[in-house]
Amino acid sequence: MLHSLIQVDHPLVRHHLAIVRDKATPPWLFRQSMRQLTAILAVRATEDLTLERKTIATPIENCESEVLSGSIGLIPILRAGIVMVDPLLELLPNAQVWHLGVYRDEESARPVPYYNKLPAGSPVDLALVLDPMLATGGSAIMACQSMAEWGVREMRMLSLISAPEGVDALLKAFPGLRVYTCCVDRQLNSRKFIVPGLGDAGDRVFNTM
Ligand code: PRP
Repeated sequence: MLHSLIQVDHPLVRHHLAIVRDKATPPWLFRQSMRQLTAILAVRATEDLTLERKTIATPIENCESEVLSGSIGLIPILRAGIVMVDPLLELLPNAQVWHLGVYRDEESARPVPYYNKLPAGSPVDLALVLDPMLATGGSAIMACQSMAEWGVREMRMLSLISAPEGVDALLKAFPGLRVYTCCVDRQLNSRKFIVPGLGDAGDRVFNTM
């Protein structure tokens, strides 16, 4: 039985989490560890992808093989979700990438959409929504709503660090959605930041603090 919240624990996850949480970590190393965490999470989040049979000609003889079937969309939530795209494209080179612009209003902590170029029709078979942080869950819920409106029937959320409040809100809005995360932290603080968290992921990825 696969539960909706899948926390991926591994010594490498713990090691890279320590790096990204450390406020002394420079931007280049922060980005590198974020990419490593994403790759580990991605392996878990794709372990049941659909395959189809294909005969491959090796240099020696034909070989019955299996290849991925169906279309997969990577849906990074701007800005911080961008750091998760390349590690996933390394594993899923044929994936489509559809960016969604959502920022969190600093006063209300409510999500504000600002970029969405999803086409009418032709939704992907599987959408992987990417955001390093799941805090209140508002941004992820907005992204999943966009996927549902696009017509996507299966979606998964990949979040590197999550707050229990955000996980609860997202799963309440989308029961049965699978949420893959490296860690569920203690709580949100009064400013709706994840505690202990890692600060503002977008600012640390892009060195705009
Ligand atoms: C951060 C983070 C998520 C969102 C999480 O983005 O990267 O997108 O907040 O918060 P929520 O779960 O409460 O919605 P931010 O709004 O700071 O934008 P940025 O990535 O452009 O910095």
